[in-house]
Amino acid sequence: MATKIIIDTDPGQDDAVALLLALASPDELELLGIVTVAGNVGLAQNSRNALKIVELSGKINTKVYAGCDRPIRRVPVTAEHVHGQSGLDGPNLPDAKITLQDMHGVDFIVQTLQNAAPGEITICALGPLTNIAMALVRAPEIAPKIKQIVLMGGGYFEGGNITPTAEFNIYVDPEAADVVVHCGAPIVMIPLDVTHQALATKERLANFADLGNKTGTAIHQMLTFSERFDLEKYQWQGAPLHDPCVIAYLLDPDMFTGRLINVEIEVDSELTRGMTVADFWGVTDRNPNVTYMRHIDADAYYAMLTDRLVRLP
Ligand code: RIB
Ligand code: CA
Repeated sequence: MATKIIIDTDPGQDDAVALLLALASPDELELLGIVTVAGNVGLAQNSRNALKIVELSGKINTKVYAGCDRPIRRVPVTAEHVHGQSGLDGPNLPDAKITLQDMHGVDFIVQTLQNAAPGEITICALGPLTNIAMALVRAPEIAPKIKQIVLMGGGYFEGGNITPTAEFNIYVDPEAADVVVHCGAPIVMIPLDVTHQALATKERLANFADLGNKTGTAIHQMLTFSERFDLEKYQWQGAPLHDPCVIAYLLDPDMFTGRLINVEIEVDSELTRGMTVADFWGVTDRNPNVTYMRHIDADAYYAMLTDRLVRLP
């Protein structure tokens, strides 16, 4: 029985690979809808990018909904310096012919959960958590119905990537992250501590180009564009491939190891805004609210990506 999922996303080249991995796995994942959120670039551009990715996959009946165009409280922060002005620089993908659904993305999340049986729906969060928090505030009754929320965000051992202490998705909307980590639904957090182990080395990038399909070519162009920022910053052999880890977790959770701990979100200090204060060593008596991933089998991750993305056009 395929797992029913909603993907909330701010594409973003790494988001694009995550979406394509999910779209390439229909036997395991039933993608009920994609909801876009302001993040890497503005909402309108993220939404255009999501439509382009759906068309690239060939799964043109996949529904895309636009969500919130700014964080709950904070001034929007975007990342064109990483992802380019379009948010999907690299390939020259044509404008999509398919269009957005009329329903607001937050309403889609709420109504899907309200109409589902308890434990039926998994939420995959690849960007700032604004939409999910707004859905939880609007309809708190959906929280106990969520099977699990698997999100890319946060960092503890690796610190932050947009400030010394905060990862981008959490930093953009820390109030939203605070709502989500306290909502009571099972949460799996895939932080920089994991994604920094999953580097898209030149060999791994070449494997995408060698898939022999449009998808592989586009992914190679996307990642060889977006890697520039991280290679210059970290001087590593490759850039971390963040968001597809969320989908990989659903497809093979044994690829990861982690533990149930308490995670709190810094929302008051400007110095440490958006920090995920992870009690990894259990030094407090705070409520364990997050299954915090710490390690990934990176070779298995990239093997999964090529094994599945070759199935797409
Ligand atoms: O910090 C990495 C996260 O921020 C990823 O989701 C990337 O797409 C950006 O949104
Ligand atoms: Ca993202």
